[in-house]
Amino acid sequence: MVPENAMKWGELSTARGVYNWTAADAIANYAEENGKYLRCHVLVWHSQLPTWVEEGNWDNETLVEVVQEHIAEVVGRYKGKCKDWDVVNEALNEDGTYRETLFYNITGEAYIPIAFKAAAEADPEANLFYNDYNIGAAGNKTAGVERIIQLVQSYDAKIDGIGLQSHYVVADTNSYQAISNIMDTYTSYDLNVVISELDIRMELPSNSTQLIQQQLDYAGVCAACRDEERCKGITVWQFTDKYSWVPDVFEGEGDACPWDEDYNKKPAYYGCASVL
Ligand code: XIL
Repeated sequence: MVPENAMKWGELSTARGVYNWTAADAIANYAEENGKYLRCHVLVWHSQLPTWVEEGNWDNETLVEVVQEHIAEVVGRYKGKCKDWDVVNEALNEDGTYRETLFYNITGEAYIPIAFKAAAEADPEANLFYNDYNIGAAGNKTAGVERIIQLVQSYDAKIDGIGLQSHYVVADTNSYQAISNIMDTYTSYDLNVVISELDIRMELPSNSTQLIQQQLDYAGVCAACRDEERCKGITVWQFTDKYSWVPDVFEGEGDACPWDEDYNKKPAYYGCASVL
């Protein structure tokens, strides 16, 4: 399981050094009490930041300190509980250049290895990931991912894997072969991979043709992970259509999850389950 929002910086902190752990703790404790494998999300991301970070007038030295403090605080608190951490999320533009985030604009690309170092220091056992979307087939953006891997490794910082978010549209997923090939590229750096935020949306209202296509699409993505030894897991971004983020963000689209709004298993569920 993974907290969809509760561990994001803006959900946790209202001022420097001030944290409200209620929701995040509830998830971490639930995982522990029920023997669930917990992936945690997310330490450094340009979105859902606290206002005090977004609107701060930072110089490089202070911003680096603030990032390091935040990572030490959060990773330290869930040490041993968060088995995986998404350390840096969505640092790239579609053309593979760096996204001009607050962190990039002030610190430059060094913010990435700095974040990985801080996370490894706070919990040496946690698996540390770079996570992004549209990185499931070779192209400009995946060249950017390779650049990030090389950058982090050149700083002698620990990185354990790449998270392929895998937010897709029905009949427009990356193919089994494309995903298999790009996973080989990532694992060639001695890294693991995961499918970290899988959902496959469609135009609403859905119909049986789309739902059957979605079943095939889920099967293809899940099989690509199954067949890659270093693919360590598949996490869906919500299991039920009832709570999926898709309709809120993609107008007119939805029904992206393996379970429907009434918690019934859809063809999509069997698409994935039948190949694992
Ligand atoms: C989304 C959540 O699902 C929404 O509830 C929230 O309003 C916005 O963020 N990539 C990510 C996730 O890494 O954190 C995003 O989650 C979806 C896209």
